[in-house]
Amino acid sequence: MSHPAASLIERLGRRLRLGMVGGGADSVIGGTHRLAFRVDGLYDLVAGAMSIDPAIAIATARSDLLAPERTYTDYAEMARCEAEREDGIDAVVIATPPQTHLEIAEAFLAHGIHVVCEKPMTRTAAEAERLARRVADAGRLLLLTHCYTGYPMVREARELVRNGALGAVALVEGEFASGERGVALEPEDPAQRHWRFRRGSMGPAVVLGEVGTHVHNLASYVTGADVVRVSALLETRAQRREVYDNGYLTVRFGDGASGRLWSSFVAAGNQHGLALRVFGEQAGVSWRQEDPEVLWLRTIDGETRVLSRDQRGLADASRAATRVRLGHPEGYLLAFANLYRDFAAALAAHELGEDPAPFLAELPGVADGVATLRLLEAAERSHDRDGAWEGVRAGVDAPA
Ligand SMILES: NC(=O)c1ccc[n+]([C@@H]2O[C@H](COP(=O)([O-])OP(=O)(O)OC[C@H]3O[C@@H](n4cnc5c(N)ncnc54)[C@H](O)[C@@H]3O)[C@@H](O)[C@H]2O)c1
Repeated sequence: MSHPAASLIERLGRRLRLGMVGGGADSVIGGTHRLAFRVDGLYDLVAGAMSIDPAIAIATARSDLLAPERTYTDYAEMARCEAEREDGIDAVVIATPPQTHLEIAEAFLAHGIHVVCEKPMTRTAAEAERLARRVADAGRLLLLTHCYTGYPMVREARELVRNGALGAVALVEGEFASGERGVALEPEDPAQRHWRFRRGSMGPAVVLGEVGTHVHNLASYVTGADVVRVSALLETRAQRREVYDNGYLTVRFGDGASGRLWSSFVAAGNQHGLALRVFGEQAGVSWRQEDPEVLWLRTIDGETRVLSRDQRGLADASRAATRVRLGHPEGYLLAFANLYRDFAAALAAHELGEDPAPFLAELPGVADGVATLRLLEAAERSHDRDGAWEGVRAGVDAPA
């Protein structure tokens, strides 16, 4: 199945020009972004301020063959200089720690540059709402890289819910409970602790910001429903850790479903640990990130089907996200690449003066970032009140 991005880029007559902030050789996720946006040949990486450490920023840019005059050590200067160029970047990829996302995104939006932003979108709900307004005011697009939404079988699960195959959704069980490295003791010297486990990055609820955001986004993506109430238990298991590293959220969705979202860094022995089960009145689906090619569908009558990516009869949305034929495993990088490919179609349509909305339909964006940050804050309030139910505000047009 050919993807619309290819013909839109052909009509545009050039690849999209990307810049990166963060994601340098000293980062976890930067290399994954570079692999993902290169898969389809729709983008060129032409500029970057890729590390807080100038030497690493320069070395990473050099290894990616960026021109010296487009190698930056300051993102604000990069935004300014790129905006002045005839061949300036179309979009910036922000792959820095969460407390920096808002200011970096604002710097580029102010110059009319589109944004690809890592999750959590911002540090607080107020910041997320402010960014939503900036995006709207600038008339630019924002992709939030909840990469798991790019898996074909996640999109298939979404379609099954949409077309009523499960009946009305009643129960949602999601978890992102990892154990790898997260269980360890924190170093005695606070300066040696990773930002992920320090209050400065996200406040105390880092586990919700880092992994809880993905599981909440996945649950809402598949069910199409917003969380409207939450009761939370947050705790710290690792010694000397200054933030929560395990969280249980009991949630109510706006469509009447209820569910539980478990986020953890201390599930010893778990590797990645992202999974989702959705139960309707007639059937349930089950998906695990570590076995992403299949989706289990079980009906109330006991019929069990293991749906495989690219098998006949799947929904158009999941078939469109499939790259290689049945039997050849795809996986995480191609799921991530699906986000970049869909976003390329939206960016190209925007550049051509056409409506990008159809190409954004399967993608997480600024409204999803706002919804998750609001849930996180409501969960913290609930925890502070011993798990009392807290409402989660809906809609992105909140007052300043
Ligand atoms: N989508 C996913 O699956 C996924 C996976 C891992 C991390 N993340 C997210 O990606 C973001 C980065 O995470 P990470 O694990 O790569 O962090 P990291 O600490 O490993 O890397 C952060 C990078 O940003 C750079 N940086 C920091 N401040 C900067 C600034 N002001 N200007 C330029 N560069 C700056 C650092 O030098 C480094 O290159 C976080 O928001 C994290 O939650 C997402």
